[in-house]
Amino acid sequence: MKTLETSVDAEKNGNQSPTADVGLAGMDILSVSQFDTGKLNYIFGRADEMRAMVNEVGGDDLLKGRVLACLFYEPSTRTSASFIAAMERLGGSVIPITQGVQFSSVSKGETLPDTIRTLEQYSDVIVLRHPEIGSAKVAADYASVPVINAGDGPGEHPTQALLDLYTIQDELGTIDGLKIAMVGDLRYGRTVHSLTKLLLHYDVSLRFVSPEMLRLPLTIMNQVLDAGMNVRETHDVADVIENADVLYVTRVQKERFSDLAQYEEVKNHYEITPELMAKAKDKMVVMHPLPRVGEIHYADDSDPRAAYFRQVQNGMYIRMALLSSVLAKK
Ligand code: NCD
Repeated sequence: MKTLETSVDAEKNGNQSPTADVGLAGMDILSVSQFDTGKLNYIFGRADEMRAMVNEVGGDDLLKGRVLACLFYEPSTRTSASFIAAMERLGGSVIPITQGVQFSSVSKGETLPDTIRTLEQYSDVIVLRHPEIGSAKVAADYASVPVINAGDGPGEHPTQALLDLYTIQDELGTIDGLKIAMVGDLRYGRTVHSLTKLLLHYDVSLRFVSPEMLRLPLTIMNQVLDAGMNVRETHDVADVIENADVLYVTRVQKERFSDLAQYEEVKNHYEITPELMAKAKDKMVVMHPLPRVGEIHYADDSDPRAAYFRQVQNGMYIRMALLSSVLAKK
């Protein structure tokens, strides 16, 4: 689809629309690097409006007649369901190839470009999850409709990072000044990669907590260091729990390991227990992109600081905000 520059040019030429002012109309959403604070604040404001609208009347017909193709080559519950819910609450409809890519022509050996060139014939936007880094960019190069990256292997997960950041702001009223600890699989966790890059726009302290094998990739750590951020790495949650404002916990990404014995070594490395929570600040929030597979004890769920299911709900508002912006008429 289009590049960011062409949209910005259109705007400079006076081609204004309610969303062209932030340049998202007609755009692919491939990486968080496309978002500056102007765009972030715009999306968060739209998400607030979507929340109010859903609470009041359930939905509207802003995207009536528009079709979303939801193409998932990897498992998903929240990302696919929230995109579908978002589209339907805005009056649009969905082609769901989410639970059954194995029943599509992909299982006959169809390539990603051919599948994309087919789906664009029926739809106005394509949401893609795929196990390879860079796959969303490949799809976008072929598609004439916007492509939204819903996770490209261990690469990025930009819409998750938007909802994560929105949740932090929603829960704590600010982002600047916070101490944010990311825990778990920082190496393969694409949500961590995207959220860390978004946080480069803010004045935050970062704590990265992982086993040695699952440390944050050097390329991303270098970006954090180049930005001059206050950052520290550790293996132990106990080192960060007392001072953290946000504890962002992640699952060890079993599907990314070529050697399952290595996975077995690190899979039960962390568990956020009520005993650990007792050491944390009263106003701290615990987040998780989910699914959890043992990193957060179920007994924490009744703790008011457990924000992970509120985070899930925010995902729908953020995706409503994004879809309405990307599909806005120019
Ligand atoms: C995450 C993902 O798919 O990257 N889940 C999600 O989108 N909510 C995290 C994970 O699978 O661990």
